[in-house]
Amino acid sequence: MNWLSGFANPIERDVPLGELTWYRIGGRARYLSRPDNESELERLVRRAAEQGVELKILGRGANVLVRDDGFDGVVVRLDTPAFQRTEVDGERVRVGAGVDLMRLAKRISHSGLSGLECMAGIPGTIGGAVRMNAGGRFGCIGDVIERCRLLDGSGVIETWSKDRLAFDYRSSAIGDRVVLSADLRLRRSDRAETRRRFEEIFASKTASQPISERSAGCVFKNPVGASAGALIDAAGLKGSRCGGAVVSQRHANFICADPSAKASDVERLAGMIAERVRAEYGTELELEIDIW
Ligand code: EPU
Repeated sequence: MNWLSGFANPIERDVPLGELTWYRIGGRARYLSRPDNESELERLVRRAAEQGVELKILGRGANVLVRDDGFDGVVVRLDTPAFQRTEVDGERVRVGAGVDLMRLAKRISHSGLSGLECMAGIPGTIGGAVRMNAGGRFGCIGDVIERCRLLDGSGVIETWSKDRLAFDYRSSAIGDRVVLSADLRLRRSDRAETRRRFEEIFASKTASQPISERSAGCVFKNPVGASAGALIDAAGLKGSRCGGAVVSQRHANFICADPSAKASDVERLAGMIAERVRAEYGTELELEIDIW
């Protein structure tokens, strides 16, 4: 029996990975697993660690660029029912890591609970959003998290409170641990108002960002006290291109991909942007997207 066998959902081999991301570019994963429940996931994490096989969780691939030569490890998708539960109890909501963030935010905001309106227009899963403290001008998911259940590399489950999660701008202390579920604390509010606020934020995103195109959202983090998009725009880089990758005309911190684009085109263009902004303004841009 090898380490890959004996799982309820068989582990797939050599799976096209790019197609599972918003960019829809990039190579294959050596292995892909969709565990049926937490104990299967725990077993997988332990076995991969014993074998020295790298393991990554893929949510909706909204912030990931997969390189053209793919990922030589095991990719885990938490899209089975066990990870997609949502339990609403008054102002408290427990959500599984695989729950779709936008769908949840819309449903919750339309029901008169306030706190997730700021997630309008942010694609992803709860797990991915919590790990990177997704958000924007209108707020971050960390603002409403009370605690999270996390699985570490040795297969141990712990509950971390907000303090320990240490949310900061697009970061948390979660690191390589796997988010299993999150407890949110929201506020009961006027239903018409939370609904209006969600729709208003969503409209502002569609007006200012190329959200229907292939991208991974903002490529760079905002430097302290500045906007990466404004700097890239001021450097005259909108419309710049490397192969099939192009700097969005709508928002300069987005690199959109034509169907012909390679991951290497996106990476080269990001490098060129960072170089130009450094030369023009002396500012170092740091990548926000995750490159696998
Ligand atoms: N701006 C330009 N040109 C551009 C883009 C922006 O001049 O091409 C200017 C805007 O006019 C504005 C300023 O830059 O004065 C900031 O722009 P914006 O309001 O669009 O916000 P942002 O800082 O670029 C952040 C998040 C977004 C999030 C929005 C809205 C980062 C890196 N980006 O963008 O998050 O959606 O606020 O809340 O923190 C993401 O994380 O992937 C993402 C898209």
